[in-house]
Order: sequence, then C-alpha cells, then structure tokens
Amino acid sequence: MNTYEAQAPGRINLIGEHTDYNLGFAMPIALEQRTTVRFEPDDTDRITLHSEEEGDGASFALSAAPGDVDGWSSYAAGVVWALTQAGHRVVGGSMKVHSDVPIGAGLSSSAALECAVLLAMNAATGTELDRLDVARLAQRGENDFVGAPTGLMDQLASLNGALDRAMLIDFLDSSVEPVVFDLDTHGLALVVVNSNAAHQHSTGEYRSRRESCTRAAGELGVGSLRQVQGVDVLDRIGDETDRRRVRHVLTENDRVLDCAKALNSSDFGRVGQLMTASHASMRDDFEITTEHIDLIADSLVRQGALGARMTGGGFGGCVIALVPSVDSEKITEAVASDIAKGGFPAPTIFTARAGGGASLQRNE
Ligand code: GLA
Repeated sequence: MNTYEAQAPGRINLIGEHTDYNLGFAMPIALEQRTTVRFEPDDTDRITLHSEEEGDGASFALSAAPGDVDGWSSYAAGVVWALTQAGHRVVGGSMKVHSDVPIGAGLSSSAALECAVLLAMNAATGTELDRLDVARLAQRGENDFVGAPTGLMDQLASLNGALDRAMLIDFLDSSVEPVVFDLDTHGLALVVVNSNAAHQHSTGEYRSRRESCTRAAGELGVGSLRQVQGVDVLDRIGDETDRRRVRHVLTENDRVLDCAKALNSSDFGRVGQLMTASHASMRDDFEITTEHIDLIADSLVRQGALGARMTGGGFGGCVIALVPSVDSEKITEAVASDIAKGGFPAPTIFTARAGGGASLQRNE
C-alpha cells in the first residue's frame, strides 16, 4: 500500500481578530511549527489515529456523523465527514500524527490537523481541490461536526502561508495578498508569550460574540458588518454591549488595513501602535481578554516592546509582541518576572518567523 504524507502549519494572527466571520480583514502569518499526517490507506472503513502527542488508538468510522466522535480526533473525523458531504471519496486506513504546534494556545493546532488530514486524504483518493475549497471543507468540519462556530482565517492561513510573508486576507472574497514580513532585516523579532491558559471555541463566549455581530447586522439591515461604513452607525444599535462589539469589528478592520500599509513602508513603530490599540479594543469593546492576558500585554509594552496584543479567539492563549532583537532577552525575562509577581503560571516564550503553507510531502 502507498503512504501519503502531508503537513500543515499553525498560525499567528498579527492583527484582525473576530473579523473573519464578519467578512472583514485579518493579517495572519503561518508558523514554522506544523502538524504532519502520514496516511497509510487500507481496505477497512475506519480511520485509526496514532498521535505522538495525544496517544494511540483513537478510531472512527468513515460514516461517523456529528456527535459520534469526541476530543481531538473529532477534528480529523470532521473533515472526513465534510469531504463525504461534498460528494468526495474517502478511504479508511491509519494516520500517524505528529505536531509541534502548541495545543489549545490560540495558534490553530486544530486547523493544522484538519488541513494536513485533508491533504493526505485527497492525495490518497486522487481528489484535486484548490486551497480555498480545502479551507472551506476544513471549516465545515469544524463548524458542523465539531460544533465550533469559527470563521475561515485559520485554515486560509495554514494553507497559504509563505516564508517571511504575512497574508492580508479579505474575507469578502477570501482573497489572500502577501505582505513582506521580514523582521530580521529590521533588527526586530516577533515574540510569542504563551500564557499556558488553554482556551476553547466550542464554548459559549466565542459563539455569543458571533451572535452579537449577527444581531447588530440585522438591526442595521445589512447581511454582514462589512457593509457598514464608519462608526457613525453605532448610534443605531439599541443594545449597548452589541454596540461595543460592532465598534471593535469596524475599528479592527481599519487597523488591519493601516497595519498592512505600515508594514509595506517598514513603519514598525506604527505597526506596534496598531497592535496595542487592537489589544485595547479586544479588552474593552469585544471583551475577550482576561486579567492574565492583559497583564502579559501591558508588561510587554512597559518593558520595551513596540506593541503587543493577544492573538486568536481569546480567553487565554498567546500574546504576541514586536520587539527590538537586541532587547528580546531582557524584555522576556522582565515579563516572566511580572507574570510570576501577578501570581499566574509560568509562560512558555518563543520567537516566531513567518513560515510556508501546508503541502503534500511525499507519496511512496
Ligand atoms: C479563532 C477562529 C477564527 C477567528 C479567530 C478570531 O481562531 O477559529 O476563525 O474567528 O478565532 O479572530
């Protein structure tokens, strides 16, 4: 039997949070950290998963329906289900999974798994799909099988990443424009502080943010918040909380576009300011940060970062910061000490570089 190996990266969102399902803008990078799936088809009608990180033995039927599979293997089962629903062929076999994407840290370990499973399965069945179709199928599995009402950013980022490039994504047409993101050349580094406080998107908070946006769009008589121009319309939203949620989305879209311009002119001071403003908007208007996460973001800026913000869906996960490379160690040591003084668990800190997108490694 042949073996098919695919790999897909996690992502960091530089700016543009909770804008994807509002058909706005975001600007993620793919990580160098990635998930690899080695698929060996057999004649059975089941997939058996073996993971170096999650343990052996998870197994599900090719006919598994929403609700049948729990835990991390539901992300793999979800994409197999989505392929079947779309009329594509799937085959049984064994999948060996290995990943160095931190799990539950807001770095899209789930999208990395979904995309790697999809590419390996499609290679085995000879199914040819473009990247946007693959992203949509992965999202469908996550939404309708796993039950997490997430947008399309993580999958698009995992599939379209490029070395030293950020991706300016317009979710109105799902177009992806590369933006140079080569911090090294400018003596800068992207520091990632993983709070080690895990987050969950199938829980209520993510969903309730999404519902606020849908409700407000209905009240404004538009199909999505993308059709709303300028913050003047906010007065027309009756509910005070919904009004702040919409203000975040509208101002965040503007920040993404400003940030792309600032990157294109190597104005990193401005990039930093926009990151910090994005964090404040997530904290005050969208209310998706936590005391722990705010402490990390504040400390990074106070200790000398050009800017810092939480990345990902919220309520835990990672804070990213733009820092001068020469000061990186001094800053991260001081931040770790501030976190300890605040009584929070020790973080995991690393430096990230924009890496390449998902790919098929080999067929044997
Ligand atoms: C999670 C979701 C994405 C996006 C972000 C917030 O990562 O999977 O679709 O909504 O949160 O920007």
